[in-house]
Amino acid sequence: MQMKLELGVNIDHVATLRQARYSQTPDAHNVEPSLLEAVAACQAAGAHGITIHLREDRRHIQDADVAAVRAVPGVRLNLEVGNTPEIIDIACATRPDSVCMVPENREEVTTEGGLDVLANESAITASTARLQAAGIRVSLFIDPDPAQVAASARVKADMIELHTGAYANATGAERGVELQRLMAAGAQAGALGLQVNAGHGITTDNLAPLLGIPHLVELNIGHHLISRALTLGLQGAVREMLEAMA
Ligand code: PXP
Repeated sequence: MQMKLELGVNIDHVATLRQARYSQTPDAHNVEPSLLEAVAACQAAGAHGITIHLREDRRHIQDADVAAVRAVPGVRLNLEVGNTPEIIDIACATRPDSVCMVPENREEVTTEGGLDVLANESAITASTARLQAAGIRVSLFIDPDPAQVAASARVKADMIELHTGAYANATGAERGVELQRLMAAGAQAGALGLQVNAGHGITTDNLAPLLGIPHLVELNIGHHLISRALTLGLQGAVREMLEAMA
């Protein structure tokens, strides 16, 4: 039986907007937008999970956000983390449903390439075991590269999240090549017993071909959904203000 594809919504950008105005006064009475309202909206719309990334530099999601989202009943929380002792400690203490390990560079605007599992096998094996011992399922965000898929199975991850950014950014024939890499990686991962997820740069326009990735269970989408929320919601917000002014 084909399982329904699941959607995890990455709400980091809601925190980005909040931090742009209120990073110095996080406890002020007028802080907005509310991350918890965003969680509630995603849940009301039928999202299967919520994803947040606690970056080492805390540029968007804060430690208090992780605890607050974890405390919302009924939320399946996926916490993205870099593999550093401080952040793995927080993850083990918070007990999200899953952790997705991602590479992290201070200068990057967003997660750039996939995690190099191959080059960091022993460190990733150790953190994976720690997280799993705390009852957390572990996902690794990797490029659709056969060597990285094989290494993900060796470190005993539960899942991989295939990085769809190269596919999303490619045009013409190059996009077909990237899609084939994703398909092959999905097939390989499924055969190795790994759950297959995918994310980065996914939009309603580029989604359809991705649905053919073998064994695909979940998509994680952030930027497009928050962008669409602005497009869909700005009219209503302006109207609401004009009514208040009248
Ligand atoms: N998956 C992972 C591991 C990510 O790091 C990100 C970006 O934060 C996403 C999915 C979502 O990507 P996008 O914001 O492009 O939809």
